[in-house]
Amino acid sequence: MNAQVKSKKRVSDHGEVFTREREVDAMLSLVKHETERIDSRFLEPACGTGNFLVPILERKLSVVKRKYGKSQLEFERYSVVVVGSIYGVDIMEDNVKLCRKRLFDTFDKHYTNLYKDKSKDAMRDIVSFVLEKNILRGDALSLKTVSKNPEPIIFSEWSPFNGSMIKRRGFLFEELIPNSAKNIDLFKKADISDLGTPAFIPTPVKEYPLSHFLLLNYENPN
Ligand SMILES: C[S@@+](CC[C@H](N)C(=O)[O-])C[C@H]1O[C@@H](n2cnc3c(N)ncnc32)[C@H](O)[C@@H]1O
Repeated sequence: MNAQVKSKKRVSDHGEVFTREREVDAMLSLVKHETERIDSRFLEPACGTGNFLVPILERKLSVVKRKYGKSQLEFERYSVVVVGSIYGVDIMEDNVKLCRKRLFDTFDKHYTNLYKDKSKDAMRDIVSFVLEKNILRGDALSLKTVSKNPEPIIFSEWSPFNGSMIKRRGFLFEELIPNSAKNIDLFKKADISDLGTPAFIPTPVKEYPLSHFLLLNYENPN
């Protein structure tokens, strides 16, 4: 077996073949501007162990480091936004866990290198918390969680507000897919953007109170 394949059984059961770094880089370079925009959002519906999501986080964190690295507080705030802008779903539990770990390690490597003994465990806890909400075990075909009682997948949006505050809202995965059968009639006449093209405006199914970014895991735990 090689780095792209864990076992023949997993290939035949789940089509699990991981993408090589060279191909990932070439594909991400096609959307270079978006991978370097702090608040662009990426959702990968069969994310594996994060072969795409990890380099996206690397690219975004490099921008945060370059622009805000001189201020620890600014770096921390923007890191939460950047980690919160990356979403993944995979049907295999071990892939989900490893994907979260690789994303966490990517953040922690930059954070610890930059601030050494001034780096905070509270910040690491927030990053782990956001990753737990954003990288989910689920079935990208049914758009439901994988469990005895599958539930519709809900993703959290993390929007910065007034400096250090974050507004969290929950959205149904099935509502975030403009062409899914459920959403065929979503583009009503009223939903037209300033550019005159159809605008897609999903409705949140959960609203959380505004929270300081370092208190997200206490104030919005579920
Ligand atoms: C071809 S691999 C690609 C992984 C990753 N995107 C990459 O490029 O390295 C496909 C992935 O899809 C996952 N998968 C298979 N069926 C799925 C489903 N119904 N819902 C979510 N993930 C699924 C597998 O576990 C596997 O990690």
